[in-house]
Amino acid sequence: MRIDIISAVPDLMVSPFRTSILKRAIEKGLVNVYFHNIRDWSSNNYRQIDDAPYGGGAGMVMMIEPLDKCISELKSQREYDDIIYLTPDGITLNQKIANNLSIKNNLIFLCGHYKGIDQRVRDLHITKEISIGDYVLTGGELAACVLADAVIRLLPGVLSDEQSALTDSFQDDLLSPPIYTRPESYKGMKVPEVLLSGDPNKIDAWRHDQAVRSTTEKRPDLLGDEE
Ligand code: ADE
Repeated sequence: MRIDIISAVPDLMVSPFRTSILKRAIEKGLVNVYFHNIRDWSSNNYRQIDDAPYGGGAGMVMMIEPLDKCISELKSQREYDDIIYLTPDGITLNQKIANNLSIKNNLIFLCGHYKGIDQRVRDLHITKEISIGDYVLTGGELAACVLADAVIRLLPGVLSDEQSALTDSFQDDLLSPPIYTRPESYKGMKVPEVLLSGDPNKIDAWRHDQAVRSTTEKRPDLLGDEE
């Protein structure tokens, strides 16, 4: 997989990709991540990339020209499966969206800043608009890191035990059951007996029951049949 991330402040995204699992995924060649600074496509001496909104109002708008040049250049080099704009008014990211993206080859993530991007960039290039939740960040960069993390960890070979992504919360629309490790008893708090029983059927049944309980209590919306 290849991910191109377009941003006005790519430095914001350095450490998530240079640490731990994402770093290893890149080193193993399972994913290539490239950062593009929008200012490099500005035709202006001041490397200007934003301007005041037509019609007035607060905030600045990211201009069409540098974004169009950058995206068009990337598109001329390869086919992209999706060009994704990270924005609070996109569809909310969930596990299903991450699963779908994890089987793509080439993706562009566009991070907005200021008040947003000129609508014509959306009309011209953007194939998906994704939000990471109903709150507003200072820009799309942290959202791009969240999306990249959710997608990259699903690529075969990224997690040491491939099973572990399949048993995540949300993969079957259930939250995860509680988990425990040593010691067996801590300050009088004991690990549930069934987990020490060595009986895999009993353990599976208990975990499923706990997952259903936890989901019913905390996220009943996941149990409905809406998408
Ligand atoms: N940019 C600003 N806020 C955002 C959000 N919640 N999700 C995605 N991109 C954003």
